[in-house]
Amino acid sequence: MSGWLFLNILVTSALPYVNNVPHLGNIIGCVLSADVYARYGRLRGWNVLYVCGTDEYGTATENKAREEGLTPQQICDKYHTVHASIYQWFQVDFDYFGRTTTEKQTQIAQNIFWRLHERGFLLEDTVEQLRCEMCQRFLADRFVEGTCPFCAYPEARGDQCDKCGKLINAVELQEPKCKVCNQTPVVRSSKHLFLDLPKLEAPLEQWLEKSMGSGDWTANAKQITRSWLRDGLKPRCITRDLKWGTPVPHPDFSDKVFYVWFDAPIGYLSITANYTDQWEKWWKNPEQVELYNFMAKDNVPFHSVVFPCSLLGAQDNYSLVNHLVATEYLNYEDTKFSKSRGVGVFGDMAKDTGIPSDVWRFYLLYLRPEGQDSAFSWADMAIKNNSELLNNLGNFINRAGMFVSKFFENCVPAMDLQPEDKRLLALVGWELKQYISLMDKVKIRDSLKCILNISRLGNQYIQVNEPWKKIKGGDTDRQRAGTVTGVSVNIACLLSVMLLPYMPTVCQTIREQLNAPPTVTATMLQGTGNFVCCLPAGHHIGVVSPLFQKLEADQIEDLKKRFGGQQVKPSPFSAVTTGGQTWPCGEKVRALKGQKAEKAVIAVEVDKLLDLKKQLALAEGKNQEPDQTKVSSPALFLCHQGNSLLARNGNRLHLCFIYIYI
Ligand code: MF3
Ligand code: ZN
Repeated sequence: MSGWLFLNILVTSALPYVNNVPHLGNIIGCVLSADVYARYGRLRGWNVLYVCGTDEYGTATENKAREEGLTPQQICDKYHTVHASIYQWFQVDFDYFGRTTTEKQTQIAQNIFWRLHERGFLLEDTVEQLRCEMCQRFLADRFVEGTCPFCAYPEARGDQCDKCGKLINAVELQEPKCKVCNQTPVVRSSKHLFLDLPKLEAPLEQWLEKSMGSGDWTANAKQITRSWLRDGLKPRCITRDLKWGTPVPHPDFSDKVFYVWFDAPIGYLSITANYTDQWEKWWKNPEQVELYNFMAKDNVPFHSVVFPCSLLGAQDNYSLVNHLVATEYLNYEDTKFSKSRGVGVFGDMAKDTGIPSDVWRFYLLYLRPEGQDSAFSWADMAIKNNSELLNNLGNFINRAGMFVSKFFENCVPAMDLQPEDKRLLALVGWELKQYISLMDKVKIRDSLKCILNISRLGNQYIQVNEPWKKIKGGDTDRQRAGTVTGVSVNIACLLSVMLLPYMPTVCQTIREQLNAPPTVTATMLQGTGNFVCCLPAGHHIGVVSPLFQKLEADQIEDLKKRFGGQQVKPSPFSAVTTGGQTWPCGEKVRALKGQKAEKAVIAVEVDKLLDLKKQLALAEGKNQEPDQTKVSSPALFLCHQGNSLLARNGNRLHLCFIYIYI
């Protein structure tokens, strides 16, 4: 955000296709990321509107209906509810979660269409189309597969190649096949309407320069957009020979509907219109609204090029995207999520794991594929839960509260700040400022680390000052115990506020435990960004109890088996329990040295190993930086396994695990 001028923040998440159940990657990719930003904005006191909804039209829905023996409308109704309840479980706090199959959608889409038509931004052309005689229908987009004409990838879709990312015209696919019946389709011609992108290129570029210059566009969003422009824009077909879509109002095209990618982004507007009559104050008010679009990277060109061209061409003073926030992909363990192979965790299953919604949110946000792909791993989830949540964050907040209740009868003690305390508060203040500036730039994963840094500092502070010993000493010592306790519990209170966007339930629980006044959020995040003491001496806190639960090895093992599909791997945990020291510390580094690998390669592995040791020390509950040369407990084994995961760009990265044997 630039300056403090724009306080109307319009947040959208890409509208998920209605025809399937979203997996964890879909959830972190847009709805959850947008939720964190929207919650943060509300916390800052901005006027935020967060809209989303299901993307319901198109061939995909028609196909699903055929598959399930229902009508397209029934499919939409059924899966709209599925989506809504999944996001509700994940505590995604939309202002409104709508859908694209509404009367408002028809009105607004047709209005934009006529404006484009009147202004000469639509072209007519006859196109060759693939038609499957067996299925008796035209094959659109995703329902034809073949070899990519650009890179020869054999599983390219009719609209886009997943390998080289280029957009494809379905008839250009080599060896096309109908995805439903696997027959070779025939080419037929039909008259269609095209959005004249070349004619809109100049205003688009002018606007993009401004938006990218002043807004927060992720690097991938800029890069994908630039490569589109570099290749030169071509007219894009906006009509389809289908039944399930917004009807094209033009009499010459009465048997056609709008192409779903012309129609769907208009859903943002119509969904807002279904929420409030004042929708134009959001969508036709670019001077006073800052628009944030959240999505996964495959959606970028539609939001940065095609949709803005529709809006620019309609010439109706539409609000255009100011901040385009695109994630990379989340993989599952060392593979991709796959519904058909039963691999991965899908939104509706998360609650059956018994792991609280807040913990899911935490781990997904911790892993958010920001800047590069990342991978969900059960073993890593257990580590992050047990080390970061339980031993770091939860431990600090719980200790601070317990000291107040045990040593000071629930009453925050008087604080007499010493240089050491001031130093700590300065460090905490620095992390808080960092958190704010990262959040302002939508670096959601990085700002989460600031929260964890603060509790780490807090734990070290408690560890060094030992209030549980000092409370038993003379007056000076007792006073010192009071100061340390008072400072700690105030930091805990700050953490509850900073956590709100990430873990809303935990945030609420901490506030109840500390009996924090409702004004804390305003005091802490709407002010100057300096640390403020919110729980003064004499403040009574509530009942303190632990915030997190340990994830046990056998529990994780069960979950991994349950969601792993066919490819059950040998268990990291049981390997240690049964096999003892099968993975001695540093084995990989030694192996590399043995192979006389390049220094730089070894250095990377050494870094990873040191990092693992650090994490292990944390998992073990130590607060100090561990001695980096030895593993101090015989009951703990540190393992460094070259468990590789295939990143989307084809590079092989390495995932590391720590196995803890207790
Ligand atoms: N349904 C699309 C997807 O899941 C996203 C549509 S975003 C919108 O990839 F802007 F078009 F709505
Ligand atoms: Zn077919």
